Amino acid sequence: MKAMLIRKYGDLDVFEWGEVDPPILKEDEMLVKVYGSSVNPVDASIRKGYLKSFVRLKLPAVLGVDASGEVVKVGKAVRKFSVGDKVYAFMGISNNGGYGEFISIPETFAAKVPDNLDLTEAGVVPGVGMTAYEAFTVHAPVRKGMKVLIIGATGGVGTYAIQIAKHLGAEVTAVCSSEKINLARQLGADQLVDYRSENILNTNERYDVILNCVRGIGFGKLKRLLKPGGKSIVIAGSPLELPLIKLSNLFSSKKTVPFFVKTDGAVLENLSQLIRACHVKLVIDRIYSWKDLPEAHARVEKGGITGKIGIAID
Ligand SMILES: NC(=O)c1ccc[n+]([C@@H]2O[C@H](COP(=O)([O-])OP(=O)(O)OC[C@H]3O[C@@H](n4cnc5c(N)ncnc54)[C@H](OP(=O)(O)O)[C@@H]3O)[C@@H](O)[C@H]2O)c1
Repeated sequence: MKAMLIRKYGDLDVFEWGEVDPPILKEDEMLVKVYGSSVNPVDASIRKGYLKSFVRLKLPAVLGVDASGEVVKVGKAVRKFSVGDKVYAFMGISNNGGYGEFISIPETFAAKVPDNLDLTEAGVVPGVGMTAYEAFTVHAPVRKGMKVLIIGATGGVGTYAIQIAKHLGAEVTAVCSSEKINLARQLGADQLVDYRSENILNTNERYDVILNCVRGIGFGKLKRLLKPGGKSIVIAGSPLELPLIKLSNLFSSKKTVPFFVKTDGAVLENLSQLIRACHVKLVIDRIYSWKDLPEAHARVEKGGITGKIGIAID
C-alpha cells in the first residue's frame, strides 16, 4: 500500500513517499481504508525519536496517531462494526499508522464517525477530543457551576475542552493569544485572558478545575490557583515532575492529576454523541494532503495553530 513513511528518526526530511506491506489483520481488528488523520505535537516528537525510551518503532514506520476511514474487512472476532462502516480511532503512540492507505484498528479503539462529520475532517478528532473529554469526565469531573480554567484554550485539546466544560455547565476562563480571543468566546468561554499581556498566575480568582495544555508551567504554580478540593490536570508535564506531584498530593486537598489519554472507543463514542448533538464543533486550521506532511508537521512544530491541522489521505 502507499504510505508516507519514515526509515529513521529525524527532521522533516525523513518523510518518504513509498510502498509498505499492508497491515496484517488480527481477529479483533478491522482493516480500514484511511481518509483522514492529523498532526499532533506528539506525532512530531515520535518522528524525532524523543519518545524512543517509551516507544521503539519498527522501521520503516508509518506515523499518525489518529485515523478516520471506512471499514473494508473485519476480523473474525469483531462484533460491533461491519464492512462499509465509517469509523475513527486514536491509535496511541505505540501503534500509529494514520499516514498510510490502510490501517488495522482494534475494535475496542474505534467509534462510528458522526453523520454530521466529513470523513476526512473526522481524522482530527480522536486524540485531542478524547483528551479533553477524559479530563473533564474522569480525572476532574466537571459539574454545573464549577469554575474551570483552560490554559492553551485555542489549540487542539483546548478547543474541545472549552466546549465540553461549557456543555457540563461550567463557567470557563480561557487563556489564549489575543488573535484567538474571539474564537474562544464563540466556543463558549466566559472570561478571556490574553497570555501575552496578562500572566494568569497573578490572578486572584480561584478555580475548581484547571486544564493546562502548555509545557513549562510548573504544577506548583497552578496549584495556588485552585480552590480547596480543586484539581489541576497536567497533560503536557515532564515525567520528572511525577514523584514531586505524588508527594505534594499527599499533603494537600488541592490535587494535581497527570494523565496520558488512552485508546478507548467507548470514550470516543461518548464524545461522538456530543458532536452529533452539535454541542461540540471541530476547529480546523487547515487540512493538508498527506504528500505535504513535512509542511504540516513543520506548522505544528512552529506553533500558532488554531484548533487542529488535518491530513487528507487522498
Ligand atoms: N497527556 C496527554 O494525553 C496529551 C494528549 C494530547 C496532547 N498532549 C500534550 O498537550 C499539549 C497541548 O496539546 P495540543 O494538541 O492542544 O497543542 P497545541 O494545538 O499546540 O495547543 C497549545 C496551545 O497553547 C497555546 N499557548 C502557547 N503558549 C501559551 C502560554 N504561555 N499561555 C497560554 N497558552 C499558550 C498556543 O497558542 P498560540 O499558538 O496561539 O500561541 C496553542 O493554542 C502538547 O504538549 C501535547 O503534546 C498531551
